Amino acid sequence: MGWNSWNTFGEKISDKLIRQTADLMVDLGLDKAGYNYLVIDDCWSERYRDPKTHKLVPNKKKFPNGIKAVADYVHSKGLKFGIYSCCGVRTCANYPGSFDHEFLDADTFAEWGVDFLKYDFCCRPKHAYGPQLYRTMGHALRLCGREILFSACNWGSDDVWSWIRSAGAHMYRSTGDICDTFESFRKIATSQMDKLHASAPFCYNDMDMLTVGMYGKGNVGAQGCAELDYKTQFALWCMMGSPLMLGADLRNLTKKDPKYRNMMKLITNKELIAIDQDPEARPIFNCTISGEMFPTVCRLLANGDLAVAMFNFSDKEALMNVVYEAMGIPDAAGVDLHVRDVFSGEDCGVIREYFDRQVPAHDCFVFRCTPVRRK
Ligand code: GLA
Repeated sequence: MGWNSWNTFGEKISDKLIRQTADLMVDLGLDKAGYNYLVIDDCWSERYRDPKTHKLVPNKKKFPNGIKAVADYVHSKGLKFGIYSCCGVRTCANYPGSFDHEFLDADTFAEWGVDFLKYDFCCRPKHAYGPQLYRTMGHALRLCGREILFSACNWGSDDVWSWIRSAGAHMYRSTGDICDTFESFRKIATSQMDKLHASAPFCYNDMDMLTVGMYGKGNVGAQGCAELDYKTQFALWCMMGSPLMLGADLRNLTKKDPKYRNMMKLITNKELIAIDQDPEARPIFNCTISGEMFPTVCRLLANGDLAVAMFNFSDKEALMNVVYEAMGIPDAAGVDLHVRDVFSGEDCGVIREYFDRQVPAHDCFVFRCTPVRRK
């Protein structure tokens, strides 16, 4: 869990912005909610390496004090510090990549106090084999003398599920880039529903940085989303156990305007975060009975509970069902569910066989259910 500069700021990053963001992560209580990593994405370096040492050079205008000074500041706030590079010769925004410099770069990052590396997939030499490039950086990070979380970003290509865990990654992007529209995150989530089998402790499927609270502003702003859409996006990411990397401008989240206040409530919702961070990290399974625009999903949680969610992806209100039989609990099993609505906090009591809800367009419900044997 953390914050990443890309979604809002793109190349418009600076020493000042990162320090301000670190302050806000603490002042808004995001760190206490679990958002600990502050990550600078692409565009932080000069266009060329140092000609003598071949090291990456922090951009002198954006980071006049260097990267270490920023990392020190982030650490002084009790947060962890992340940076970005790419396994190709150039990054996606055309800054120097780490190809053939993996060990030098990992050592440099360790010197600077980096705790997290996002590692992208652009500009690979024609002969290069993707998995090998991630393996090399995986080794370099393990040998750099500092614990650095390895966040791979190959957009789900080359059947990443089958090899990324063995390369040492701790999380791996498995979709193309998000932009701030309902359609974008709906497609991302739908594409991942049956691909979470490789997401497990030590290496998690990453559905990309959240656009929650962006309201169309910034680098991937696009048309923006409505408040309800963000609720659904956050619920999807939590149900699917994705890393929660915020992408909104945190300065907006300090505003009294209810559209931002509600975002703060949403991203610090303890019960949703507990589902996201459930230690067993089991994938969801699909128990939909009304078609792909109305997915209903279930996830087994470590304490024996079930997280159950219904999402209305359509543009019309719909009556949606949670049918226990579709979750593998036929009525004859004699098992009822004690149901709690995660958003409203309502205790819905012990319910037999099925329950339903009228779900507005783009809205969702998330329940935490405890199975109880019928007497
Ligand atoms: C790729 C990644 C994005 C972002 C940009 C930076 O597109 O998928 O998340 O890091 O590169 O250029």
